[in-house]
Amino acid sequence: MSEAVEGTELDRALALDIVRVTEATAVAAAQWLGRGDEASADAAAAAAMHREVARLPFEGVVVVGEGEEGDCPVFYLGEKIGAGSPSGAALDLAVDPIEGSTLCAKALPNAMSVLVVAERGSLLKVPPIYMEKVAVGPGYPEGIVRVAATPTENLNALAKAKGVRVQDLTVCVLDRPRHGYLIEEIRTAGAALRLIGDGDIAGVIHVTNPSQTGIDMYLGIGGAAEGVLAAAALACIGGQMEGRLVALNKEHRAWAKLAGITDLTKTYGLEDMVAGDLSFAATGITDGSMMAGVHHSPTTITTESVVMRASTHTRRWIRTDHADPRKFD
Ligand code: FBP
Repeated sequence: MSEAVEGTELDRALALDIVRVTEATAVAAAQWLGRGDEASADAAAAAAMHREVARLPFEGVVVVGEGEEGDCPVFYLGEKIGAGSPSGAALDLAVDPIEGSTLCAKALPNAMSVLVVAERGSLLKVPPIYMEKVAVGPGYPEGIVRVAATPTENLNALAKAKGVRVQDLTVCVLDRPRHGYLIEEIRTAGAALRLIGDGDIAGVIHVTNPSQTGIDMYLGIGGAAEGVLAAAALACIGGQMEGRLVALNKEHRAWAKLAGITDLTKTYGLEDMVAGDLSFAATGITDGSMMAGVHHSPTTITTESVVMRASTHTRRWIRTDHADPRKFD
């Protein structure tokens, strides 16, 4: 058994275990690459992730998953999963077997599989609704951007702190009709926009390295689950993020109520979304700006992953040649 600092740090061997999970998930998803069938890709990926997580040595509970019990076959909120452990490691799980199902179905860049394991009770439990998000990278004064501020106010604050003009900033936003107002305001303020079709976990992660990604800020409404997963990544890399849950319709309001969320105006800081130690793993399904996707040769399947730990801020980039592809059968 490897090092585990009692009560504060996750067993560090878990970091490699969870990469094996996201690798197997990405390989399963990749079998549906470009087939135009999101549902089958999602089902295959979720089944593979579920099978692999069930083997891991902990007692996990799904706090960010695929939906409510009864609405999805696996990874419903509250599901208990894991092979247990003699030390009784009890963990929270946040899963996204395919982040970017449409990207996978259309064989477009940046689809990935994501898994977060965290100390029990440390991840914000979110229903399958939306979240308004704002994120910037590390190195700025605390509270520099706020979800309650206007996009213009956030851009002015970031430009000032960075010592540049607003015109020198680029904001990443999901390309959705609901963001018409946001896109217009960002353009009016003078900043550039990177509009993405899907995948706002990667969008948020990109703010942590603007010199390479060209993205200074993430803004807009995306999945609440993806918000917590992105917050987990920032807890490992550094950076600031705020989120506010958004219920777009009656069904969302009912789910929020079911999850015990009474105040939909509440602002969640990074530490409200991810309060303890955690490990974050992601494996590319399609080639992307963070990782290559799954590639096949006649004898080998190659995957690329990142695994990060909040307690140490270590980020490992792992390229794996799976010499025995039968292990994924
Ligand atoms: P899925 O893989 O679940 O489809 O999520 C892809 C995604 O782009 C997320 O990154 C984002 O948070 C969410 O969809 C936005 O939701 P919507 O497509 O409904 O605007």
